[in-house]
Amino acid sequence: MEKKHLLGIENLKKEEIEEILETSKSFIEISKRPIKKVPVLRGKTVVNLFFEPSTRTRSSFEIAAKRLSADVMNFSSSVSSVRKGESLKDTVLNLEAMKTDLIIIRHSFSGAAKFLTTFCSSSVVNAGDGTHEHPTQALLDGMTVLEKKGRLDGLKVVIVGDILHSRVARSDIFLFSKMGSKVVISGPPTLIPGYFRGFPVEIDYNLDRALENADVVIMLRLQKERMQGGFFPSVREYRQKYQLTPERLIRTKPDAIVMHPGPINRGIELSSDVADSGRSVILEQVEKGVAVRMAVLSLLLGGER
Ligand code: CP
Repeated sequence: MEKKHLLGIENLKKEEIEEILETSKSFIEISKRPIKKVPVLRGKTVVNLFFEPSTRTRSSFEIAAKRLSADVMNFSSSVSSVRKGESLKDTVLNLEAMKTDLIIIRHSFSGAAKFLTTFCSSSVVNAGDGTHEHPTQALLDGMTVLEKKGRLDGLKVVIVGDILHSRVARSDIFLFSKMGSKVVISGPPTLIPGYFRGFPVEIDYNLDRALENADVVIMLRLQKERMQGGFFPSVREYRQKYQLTPERLIRTKPDAIVMHPGPINRGIELSSDVADSGRSVILEQVEKGVAVRMAVLSLLLGGER
């Protein structure tokens, strides 16, 4: 891959996505070895720069970098000089002065990762910027589907819930449509504004209808932290119309898989019966995340396998 940064899926070519997924396959095996370490990025310094909470992405990038033998610095804004008013740019310039090679950033500002590329000499990876994109989540979602279904083209992928605030939804829409899947988005009209008609998707506000013959169902969390004002009358009504229950799952293909980027609001978008069922591949998504992030770090830093 010739790119220096990974900012989103929208600007990746299909061939580049294929290359990352192919490289990820070869990294799965390393995490199953007794000694889970290869010297691919020995001597490289990777910074995990998180301005928003994270369980999966942050730890997965850390594990991925360590398994590639890179040195990893974890930065948390809540215990840094950001609390004293230091700007994002000054923070990054000071960290770069320690000779970093790659910066992974999560920030509430859509465009934060791209902003870093305007003054950074390190590679930049977007680990989620506002409501814009979360590219490695989409890549690990693609990888999970590829393993379960053997292909991405020709599948019906239904993405359900808070589409408006979801960077995962946007990255997934770009990835699955580029790879030849049919993408359907479903949720309350207030959470699927009109501009989504310009995306390569079909919109169906009726979840029961949207689920018909689905191969893959991706449930999204209601992102209350990004909501100002009411987007639906009540959580009770949201559950009635958009919660994925065993009764609703019957509408999909019998071998359809259920995915969720996490964290799950159990009992709201997803019933525990479904989340913990054999159809759920949620923890497999997390497992794939390590391999995908190893692939991304190694491709961007030019490490040899
Ligand atoms: N999927 C995801 O981004 O989870 P975290 O917020 O825990 O990183």
